Amino acid sequence: MRVPGVFPALRAMLAAVSLLAASVANAADGQPARHATYVGEQVCVSCHQVEESHFGHTLHAKIFRQNPRNDVERQVCEACHGPGSLHAENMAVESTDPVAQGEEAWDKIVDKSLIVGFTKSWGTSIDKMNGQCLSCHEGGQRMHWPGSTHDLNKLACSDCHNPMARFSGTSLLKKQSITQVCESCHSQQRAEFRKRSHMPVPEGKMSCADCHNPHGTVTAPLLKADSVNDLCYSCHAEKRGPFIWEHAPVREACTNCHTPHGSNHDKLLQVARPALCQQCHANTNHPSVFYNAGQLAGNETGLNSRVMGRSCQNCHTQIHGSNHPAGARFQR
Ligand code: HEC
Ligand code: HEC
Ligand code: HEC
Ligand code: HEC
Ligand code: HEC
Ligand code: HEC
Ligand code: HEC
Ligand code: HEC
Ligand code: HEC
Ligand code: HEC
Repeated sequence: MRVPGVFPALRAMLAAVSLLAASVANAADGQPARHATYVGEQVCVSCHQVEESHFGHTLHAKIFRQNPRNDVERQVCEACHGPGSLHAENMAVESTDPVAQGEEAWDKIVDKSLIVGFTKSWGTSIDKMNGQCLSCHEGGQRMHWPGSTHDLNKLACSDCHNPMARFSGTSLLKKQSITQVCESCHSQQRAEFRKRSHMPVPEGKMSCADCHNPHGTVTAPLLKADSVNDLCYSCHAEKRGPFIWEHAPVREACTNCHTPHGSNHDKLLQVARPALCQQCHANTNHPSVFYNAGQLAGNETGLNSRVMGRSCQNCHTQIHGSNHPAGARFQR
């Protein structure tokens, strides 16, 4: 990075560029305030070869270089990092080799305000960073970004994206997969998906973004549908019904009985059966508490048919709703 060898050539390039630099009179002290101007990719690359070689594999590089839609895109690096003439001059310190003088001397020379950096250590404000990206990417999936949970919690686009290289197949993510990106902050959900019963997210057949839009939605928590049930129906269409006999808690919310991320009970259930059903059905005509051994049909061990196997569902099989004329009790 700190490559004094290139400075002389660069000085010449910058001298030409700085002629273009606009000078605006500063009303306060009469000194001309200098505004950065675009210098073009070649100047940046003279110092940032490594970054440029990785960046070359991305969609931005291809589009900005080969088919720019406007003058900003034509600047390539500066389309995101902002006009960089002053940064380039600042870095082209020729004096005595600052590297040889050590980190402290170097830190005094570097003016971080002169270029938009997207790394934490560079210190550009998050609003500024996100503003750069949103200037081209407002709307679409980001329609509800302003005010979304991630926006309010001060996430930067670059917390999930790294456009400087191609780490992921699509979407220029920081990590190889969507789920890995999410799990880097959401360790609780990562743990839940490691439980015995879970949808195939850890197996890579689904991702967090099948259900959530990390850029914001109108449905909390960042759900991609109008309600929890509409979300579930989008893949489990057979649960949508309509049924002749509806089971009220199913229509209300699948999450009355299921947890979306993972459970150590069968079939993503919140609670094991029969307790699951007994939460709401304390007083059934047949006792919902266990029968005495003597009352069990043909059972000598004392095990109750309400707790064996699928418990209440040994008889009430159609728990999501029934289309049988005689299915009012969800037995058929
Ligand atoms: C004369 C060499 C030179 C030129 C020309 C130059 N840079 Fe830099 N740039 C540097 C150095 C050296 C640093 C690192 C400073 C540090 O880390 O203390 C840096 C830092 C940066 C950073 C911040 C990195 C971070 O940590 O977040 C960005 C972004 C950047 N340059 C972009 C550009 C762009 C865009 C251009 C073209 C407009 C450009 N640079 C031109 C030398 C240069
Ligand atoms: C699409 C927007 C975009 C474009 C175009 C772009 N950058 Fe970046 N750049 C970023 C983001 C975002 C980061 C922060 C990456 C991270 O989190 O490490 C970054 C980081 C950097 C850094 C810090 C070191 C690093 O790799 O993390 C340098 C230096 C840099 N860019 C230079 C350049 C240069 C030179 C070009 C042109 C060849 C360029 N950038 C083009 C968005 C962009
Ligand atoms: C000057 C305009 C511009 C800026 C600034 C810009 N982009 Fe892009 N970006 C594009 C264009 C053009 C495309 C390709 C076509 C499209 O998706 O619209 C693209 C594509 C993408 C893609 C999809 C890439 C893929 O391979 O699927 C991502 C992700 C992305 N940009 C993120 C960012 C982030 C993050 C920033 C800020 C660091 C940023 N962009 C800044 C114009 C821009
Ligand atoms: C919490 C993580 C996260 C944050 C923060 C984030 N993104 Fe994304 N972004 C993603 C994921 C994951 C995808 C892939 C979505 C998919 O494939 O369904 C994506 C896809 C994209 C795409 C490509 C798909 C499209 O909509 O064209 C663009 C462009 C993009 N993001 C821009 C941005 C911008 C701009 C910001 C900042 C305002 C941002 N993202 C913030 C995670 C994030
Ligand atoms: C850089 C860290 C970070 C990353 C990466 C990240 N998140 Fe978040 N996320 C947060 C923070 C911080 C919150 C707010 C506090 C909380 O609820 O934990 C949040 C909240 C959420 C919420 C709850 C929203 C609400 O309204 O309660 C959902 C859902 C979510 N994130 C999904 C995702 C998904 C999906 C991804 C991956 C595409 C992702 N997050 C990546 C930091 C992150
Ligand atoms: C099958 C759809 C689905 C998938 C896949 C999914 N979620 Fe969720 N997520 C939900 C639903 C539904 C809720 C709301 C739960 C509720 O209302 O009780 C939720 C809630 C959340 C919340 C809010 C806090 C909480 O746990 O209730 C966070 C954070 C979150 N999800 C992150 C993630 C992350 C990270 C991933 C990927 C590892 C992920 N989700 C995958 C459906 C899903
Ligand atoms: C993006 C598609 C998708 C969405 C949305 C979705 N699921 Fe799934 N679900 C799956 C897949 C795939 C499986 C695994 C099917 C298999 O293994 O045969 C599954 C399995 C299940 C299972 C059975 C788990 C087991 O251990 O056998 C339950 C229960 C379930 N989903 C409930 C829900 C609920 C509740 C929602 C809404 C919060 C939901 N699903 C949303 C795709 C989805
Ligand atoms: C009253 C509790 C309850 C509610 C509410 C509920 N389920 Fe279930 N669900 C169950 C039980 C119990 C099982 C296990 C069935 C078995 O073992 O045969 C199950 C199994 C499943 C399965 C896996 C087996 C199958 O039948 O495909 C899926 C998928 C599923 N539920 C989706 C949903 C969806 C989607 C919703 C919301 C529309 C929902 N459930 C609402 C109790 C419920
Ligand atoms: C969140 C509460 C809740 C849970 C959990 C629940 N139910 Fe229900 N169930 C209801 C409500 C409410 C009704 C409708 C009662 C009515 O119409 O009077 C109902 C109706 C029924 C009926 C028909 C009864 C009638 O009077 O028409 C049966 C049978 C039934 N549930 C069995 C089960 C079984 C078996 C389970 C466990 C797998 C279960 N329920 C879990 C709330 C629940
Ligand atoms: C051995 C079969 C069987 C098992 C196991 C069973 N039931 Fe039933 N249940 C029935 C039959 C038969 C009826 C219908 C009685 C009627 O129509 O009058 C019924 C009726 C019901 C009703 C509706 C009428 C009422 O009494 O309020 C509810 C609610 C119910 N059962 C809940 C449960 C729950 C909860 C469990 C598990 C703890 C369970 N059942 C286990 C056979 C069973």
